[in-house]
Amino acid sequence: MRFDFLTLFPDICRTFLSESIIGRAEKKGYVEFYYHQIRDYAIDKHKRVDDTPYGGGKGMLMVAEPIAACFESLCNTLKIRPKFIYMSPRGKVLNQEKIKELSKLKNIAILCGRYEGVDQRVIESFVDDEVSIGNYVVTGGELPALVLADSVTRLLPGVLSSEICYEDESHFDGKTIEYPQYTKPAVWRGMAVPEVLLTGHHANIAKWKNDMKEEYK
Ligand code: ADE
Repeated sequence: MRFDFLTLFPDICRTFLSESIIGRAEKKGYVEFYYHQIRDYAIDKHKRVDDTPYGGGKGMLMVAEPIAACFESLCNTLKIRPKFIYMSPRGKVLNQEKIKELSKLKNIAILCGRYEGVDQRVIESFVDDEVSIGNYVVTGGELPALVLADSVTRLLPGVLSSEICYEDESHFDGKTIEYPQYTKPAVWRGMAVPEVLLTGHHANIAKWKNDMKEEYK
């Protein structure tokens, strides 16, 4: 699977995605990440990418043309049109079901907004999906784009050590919350691990895990 990030801050994305599990996934070839600096497509000599909103209002907006030119250039390079997602607090809130659906795709391009957002005409012309990471606002689309790319990449075959790793965990089936987990030592600051987990009795342990899932709801 290939991700393309259209952003004014490619290093934010690169730094995060080159580390740990996701970084290893890229090195092993399970996923590819490409970063595109929107400012490189600015048309004026000062490389400006923002301007004031028509009708007044606070802050600045990203202008349409550099984003359009950046996306068109990407489409020309890929020879196909990737699914184009705009990270926006106005979008539909991301959930595990959506992440699973996205993990089936070959190409995803993500537009990371800054300032107060982007000119609506660029959304209408190119964007397939507006996606939010929750009902709050962060300073730019890079963190939300990373949340999406991380959560999709870890579902790709080979990225986690085995399917067990995510089939068991919170939200996989869209409703269950996982059971609490414990590691060594068996007693920590006077708090003991639930007895049943130390018995090695697989059926009882499975039942306990299931009961605890219910309790967590
Ligand atoms: N940009 C700013 N806030 C956002 C959010 N909650 N989700 C997606 N993109 C955003």
